[in-house]
Amino acid sequence: MEAHHHAHPDHGQHHHGDESALADLLDLDAEVLGPFLDELTAWVAEQSGRTPRTVADLGAGTGTGTLALARRFPSAEIVAVDRSPVMLDRLRAAARGQGLEERVRVLQADLDAALPPLGTPDLVWAAASLHHVENPARLLGEVHAALRPGGLLAVVEMDGMPRLLADEAGATLEARCREALAGSGPDPYPDWGPVLAAAGFEVAARRDFPIEVRPAPPGAVRYARTVLSGYRSRLAGRLAEGDLAALDRLLSADSPESVRHRELVVRGTRTAWAARRP
Ligand SMILES: C[S@@+](CC[C@H](N)C(=O)[O-])C[C@H]1O[C@@H](n2cnc3c(N)ncnc32)[C@H](O)[C@@H]1O
Repeated sequence: MEAHHHAHPDHGQHHHGDESALADLLDLDAEVLGPFLDELTAWVAEQSGRTPRTVADLGAGTGTGTLALARRFPSAEIVAVDRSPVMLDRLRAAARGQGLEERVRVLQADLDAALPPLGTPDLVWAAASLHHVENPARLLGEVHAALRPGGLLAVVEMDGMPRLLADEAGATLEARCREALAGSGPDPYPDWGPVLAAAGFEVAARRDFPIEVRPAPPGAVRYARTVLSGYRSRLAGRLAEGDLAALDRLLSADSPESVRHRELVVRGTRTAWAARRP
């Protein structure tokens, strides 16, 4: 979401304004990509075999995954770990809003320091978060040690920002933006398979989940604005003048080329790894 959140506004900074912007975008992800998350949690349920009773969500953000897991596993207790109190406040409110507060607990912790005590979870989920961690190999070793033997770790990543413009000119502009960002954004994620294996996991499955939401849902205009303004601010000086001007027109309220008048579609890919502690 990615990590997909590579191009999220001021991603990687930790003052509150930036965190609220990231939190808004994570909530929009949930609104726009929600149905695909259900597909993903169904796959995790299949992979996990026995129904998990205790679940941990690492780098939970505003709780998109936490709440989807709570719905998928109606008897499970879920702990949502994040270092950001801004995220965790929103997560707590969202859990209350969905009547899930009894089963969802938040835990503020910096995963760069150590995995906090989690008991012996049956399922650990890390979506668009593992690539943020400074030393993923160390964290994965700790997750392996904490999991119940036979328990499952699900790692999910998104392949960069979602693509939103349906028309040819828009799509190629977005492609140039994505290309200009590639390698410059914070840490694109690696193939986690070998890293998981080195931490002692048995990688049971890896699957790509293509996302295509057409027609675009109601939140898509706001989503497109957020994504495109992220490109605009991050790529100033790195894109051709013509492309920057095209982004300005997309973002302007009154241009006929504004996102408000464009055909939108939401496309992207999530990749998931299911790794078992033998
Ligand atoms: C891109 S968001 C993903 C949120 C959520 N998993 C989702 O899929 O919507 C990454 C989250 O990881 C958290 N995070 C990043 N580094 C962290 C660390 N070292 N310890 C704890 N949380 C961290 C951030 O605060 C942020 O909420």
